[in-house]
Amino acid sequence: MSLISLPCQATMAELQEVQITEEKPLLPGQIPEVAKEAELAARILLDPGQTHSVETPYGSITFTVYGTPKPKRPAILTYHDVGLNYKSCFQSLFQFGDMQEIIQNFVRVHVDAPGMEEGAPVFPVGYQYPSLDQLADMIPCILQYLNFSSIIGVGVGAGAYILSRYALTHPDTVEGLVLINIDPNAKGWMDWAAHKLTGLTSSIPEMILGHLFSQEELSGNSELIQKYRNIVMRAPNLDNIELYWSSYNNRRDLNLERGGDITFKCPVMLVVGDQAPHEDAVVECNSKLDPTQTSFLKMADSGGQPQLTQPGKLTEAFKYFLQGMGYMASSCMTRLSRSRTASLTSAASIDGNRSRSGTLSQSSESGTLPSGPPGHTMEVSC
Ligand code: BEZ
Repeated sequence: MSLISLPCQATMAELQEVQITEEKPLLPGQIPEVAKEAELAARILLDPGQTHSVETPYGSITFTVYGTPKPKRPAILTYHDVGLNYKSCFQSLFQFGDMQEIIQNFVRVHVDAPGMEEGAPVFPVGYQYPSLDQLADMIPCILQYLNFSSIIGVGVGAGAYILSRYALTHPDTVEGLVLINIDPNAKGWMDWAAHKLTGLTSSIPEMILGHLFSQEELSGNSELIQKYRNIVMRAPNLDNIELYWSSYNNRRDLNLERGGDITFKCPVMLVVGDQAPHEDAVVECNSKLDPTQTSFLKMADSGGQPQLTQPGKLTEAFKYFLQGMGYMASSCMTRLSRSRTASLTSAASIDGNRSRSGTLSQSSESGTLPSGPPGHTMEVSC
């Protein structure tokens, strides 16, 4: 924006200065930025999300639906991690400015694990919390209720595991998976020993915080960490959270095997922060998946929860992922393309297969974005 001073009256003696904003001429069909922002604000107001509950063989499950159904489009279905609910896990990402251009094309179904929804009562003593496999088995009831035949799953931590299990048992209904901080392995005895030792000196909420964030982040105690420490430590449903935590720790091995029978039948994007507690698990998971179907995004400067700390980079990676699946024509992405230079502040790499030599690199100046199929290696650096 530049400021131009103009005389307001004809007589130069009475020079008055007014400041006007120099506007770039709009191209035909182009909507001014302020109008877009107003439209987005109005849309958020008009679309506050509808919360529903359905009964399943393992108890009732609550989910919140945003957007209106689009014919022949899958729903984006999210599943949050332990200690969080759909809002604390996904709101930063789904309300991120550039994300609007993507999600307006999809209905979003945000699942809250049982007892994690806002205002959930504490389960009675002795309540048998569903295992992660049973939580995955509740998903068909949600899709049936909403009459959706397929989804693109976006999960974090325990939620990523649940969506993976669901994708393995219902491959025909999953078109794509974005798995953040996935650990597909059951805890081995070494992990259990470490877990027990940590339990001697830490409370369960502290252990959950150690699962969500790196030790560096926790000791840095940024505003975000203070906020999430409060969310976990002061949760009125902490007893329920501990049950979800216990189910997570008792998860079975997904038994993924490259070239084996147990594998995903859809494109997968694995995401982890380069300092995240689950980095090794995600790297190992990548080694077990089909490289032609898998993209691996290891994010710099993102800590344990990239969807909270780097929504811009994740939005861009999600856009490539959807483009690779044929859902986002690059012509629809003009605003995102224009704003990518502003939204990316440090390097992220999308690494499909470490042994692959092909690299698509993208300059910040280019107006178009590559929409390679999964498995391609993309370096996005600004
Ligand atoms: C959504 O638009 O999908 C959304 C809105 C608020 C919180 C989480 C998701």
